[in-house]
Amino acid sequence: MDYKKLVAERIKEHLELDIETIEKLIEIPPRPDMGDYAFPCFQLAKSLRKAPVMIASELKEQINNEGFEKIDSLGPYLNFFVDKGTFVKNTIEKILAEKESFGSSTIGNGKNVVVEYSSPNIAKPFHVGHLFTTAIGHSLYRILSFEGYNCTRINHLGDWGTQFGKLISAYKRWVDEEALEKDAIAELLRIYVKFHDEAEKNPELEDEGRMYFKKLEDGDSEAVELWKRFRELSLKEFNNIYDLLGVDFDSWAGESFYNDKMDAVVKELEDKGILTESNGAKVVMLDEYNMPPCIVLKSDGASIYATRDLTAAKYRKDTYDFSKCIYVVGKDQALHFNQVFKVLELAGHEWAKECVHIPFGIVKFADKKLSTRKGDVVLLEELLSEAVAKTLEIINEKNPELENKEEVAKKVGIGAIVFTYLKNSRERDIVFDWKEMLSFEGETGPYVQYTYARAKSILRKVGEGSSESDFSKLSSREEFELVKTLESFQKSILFAIEKLEPSVVTRYVVDVAKAFNKFYNAHTVANLEDEALKNARIKLVQATCQVIKNGLYLIGIEAVEKM
Ligand code: ARG
Repeated sequence: MDYKKLVAERIKEHLELDIETIEKLIEIPPRPDMGDYAFPCFQLAKSLRKAPVMIASELKEQINNEGFEKIDSLGPYLNFFVDKGTFVKNTIEKILAEKESFGSSTIGNGKNVVVEYSSPNIAKPFHVGHLFTTAIGHSLYRILSFEGYNCTRINHLGDWGTQFGKLISAYKRWVDEEALEKDAIAELLRIYVKFHDEAEKNPELEDEGRMYFKKLEDGDSEAVELWKRFRELSLKEFNNIYDLLGVDFDSWAGESFYNDKMDAVVKELEDKGILTESNGAKVVMLDEYNMPPCIVLKSDGASIYATRDLTAAKYRKDTYDFSKCIYVVGKDQALHFNQVFKVLELAGHEWAKECVHIPFGIVKFADKKLSTRKGDVVLLEELLSEAVAKTLEIINEKNPELENKEEVAKKVGIGAIVFTYLKNSRERDIVFDWKEMLSFEGETGPYVQYTYARAKSILRKVGEGSSESDFSKLSSREEFELVKTLESFQKSILFAIEKLEPSVVTRYVVDVAKAFNKFYNAHTVANLEDEALKNARIKLVQATCQVIKNGLYLIGIEAVEKM
């Protein structure tokens, strides 16, 4: 039930204002004794030639109050008190009827949205920044799909570029096959770093690297085989991580995919007369837009990162006919995307404005131990396995009898990390602090998980309850606040879509957990003589569990039944 809308409709019957304007004016009062919705009458004073206080008190007399407990005027405000019994009943029954689809809709109307995220680089470690894009993208995908958008998930793998020529050269010189089989990315990284060290002393190596990349581009079978092997070995490791996170993609078209499609795009830019020559390179000048030129072909004729992005955008438009193409990539690449989108626009593509870069912040570590790993990258697998191990320690302390401890620790530990990523608005930097993020108190993944498990254990104790519930008895402040929070689930999701910001949902789930704990600290569910009240409370707990579970799902976290 959309009460705000109902309030607006009732007001409209008496005023010459359109419904949207009225809805915008409606406020949520700061205190419960001032009602659930308030309509300020100041704006009407001029057109009605009456004092706002007068308008409010007249409206109060005229308005149809069906569905409301009462409608009051308080100074210049008209205050609406929702009929709590009906509201509570409608909300809880709706949640229990709709179950895992509560909160979803068809608002997206099947519109095509491309969500590009994760996109790690082959032969390089999957680092904490890649987990940030992975968590955001995966969540946006779930949120958008939940509201009826037709999403395509793309992993734009960094699997092409001159570095692969260097890697082939390094492989031929220094690879340790055994190490490669055991820990591929570590070994590929080792020989790649060695290549750079050696090239400082011996610059001819760079030429050798270029030569191998040329071979690769020309389809030389040995070079291609090696590149394929690097790609497969890397993907195997990436897939381990995706499996742990429950993340998947519809397309793995990385940079290499566009190899044979770039010429057409370069030609298009040429035909449209926006490609100019600069020091032998071909560029699109962007000084008019306060940006450096976008390099499309280097002086040796080779394509670069931007060429592949221009081509990818066009390919995606042709293939998926998107109404929006979302790029979840760190904010350090903002200029790159501004350039690419501008070039597309200059090439006459209307849809360029539907391409959006969704940036996110930098990841830091409070624990020194993690910040000083070799190579300055924190390996994700280490981060995840440490989270699981530490969670297991906590469970061993708090609930040593728990069955499937390892399984629970895995879900809660990994969930704690994902939660930390998605807790604050994405452009804020993140500081990882083990103690904080694994705590069962405060705004953390484990806190929400624990609240859910606790609610589930209450339900196991009291049983299903019967249908004989009297929802009008859930009239305490804590109960009503909880129901109100549950009811606003969809509003949060839609706001998250508007901002393309999963943290809105993360915050929402925390709010539900907090409201539930307040309720449960003040009221009992089990020891009640009054069956109708007891059943209503059982239903409230069931509804809370459902909403937490749905909310966690949307941010990519699986709820655990016991912990
Ligand atoms: N592979 C890049 C990196 O790891 C990210 C790719 C972002 N996506 C894109 N379409 N350029 O930094």
